[in-house]
Amino acid sequence: MGKDVIIACDFQSKKEVFEFLDKFKGKKPFVKIGMELFYSEGPQIVREIKKRGHKIFLDLKLHDIPNTVKKSMAVLSKLDIDICNLHAGGTITMMEAALEGLRRSDGTRPILIAVTQLTSTDEETMKRDLLISEPIEKVVMHYAKNAKKAGLDGVVCSPLEAEKVHEFCGKDFLTVTPGIRFVDSELGDQKRIMTPKDAKKIGSDYIVVGRPITAALDPVAAYMRCIEEFVD
Ligand code: C5P
Repeated sequence: MGKDVIIACDFQSKKEVFEFLDKFKGKKPFVKIGMELFYSEGPQIVREIKKRGHKIFLDLKLHDIPNTVKKSMAVLSKLDIDICNLHAGGTITMMEAALEGLRRSDGTRPILIAVTQLTSTDEETMKRDLLISEPIEKVVMHYAKNAKKAGLDGVVCSPLEAEKVHEFCGKDFLTVTPGIRFVDSELGDQKRIMTPKDAKKIGSDYIVVGRPITAALDPVAAYMRCIEEFVD
């Protein structure tokens, strides 16, 4: 695993996602399924995409009491997903419980990564709404270290934080980074962005790319451009 491009399939229906994936013909890109698609189509959408031969990052960002997260992770693990995630803010105990829940009877489990602080939360919001007065970078690194302590495999973070996360948690600790844009593409609502080429340079392990691929005139060409810049 590692060094791959994950396409954020932020579609609402099975019809839309399959129309999109059909464009890739023989290619089997790594796919991210988020809450929108999962809540509208249910777990069957995961089984069907998996059956078509794609690896799956199920981005449901769990955050609840440890027992509930453990049991929910056990259910998700049965879907044969490759990566799933939770909020590091749920505490080390919750993350440890999640890992226990994910372990399958044959000893395997999906990769588990933690969301540190959402990229939509800035320092000002953290102070005002959450009463967290530490600098955001310190908070992100603290959450990353907690995830590592709990035994998780890595974190979802901004590509701008990836290098530091590797410094704090080791090179093998995965950094999965959204907020990716080509030099010539629209920013949309993303603020802290990086190109696939620069994400490779700073050592990001997986890039998550949505609109630069899904909204492109030629999504397959846009995907191949990501692969050329980030993987090859
Ligand atoms: O379209 P775009 O490339 O901005 O999509 C990025 C994807 O990564 C979206 O599915 C978004 O929800 C997700 N994501 C993010 N920032 C985070 C965590 C997840 O953009 N911190």
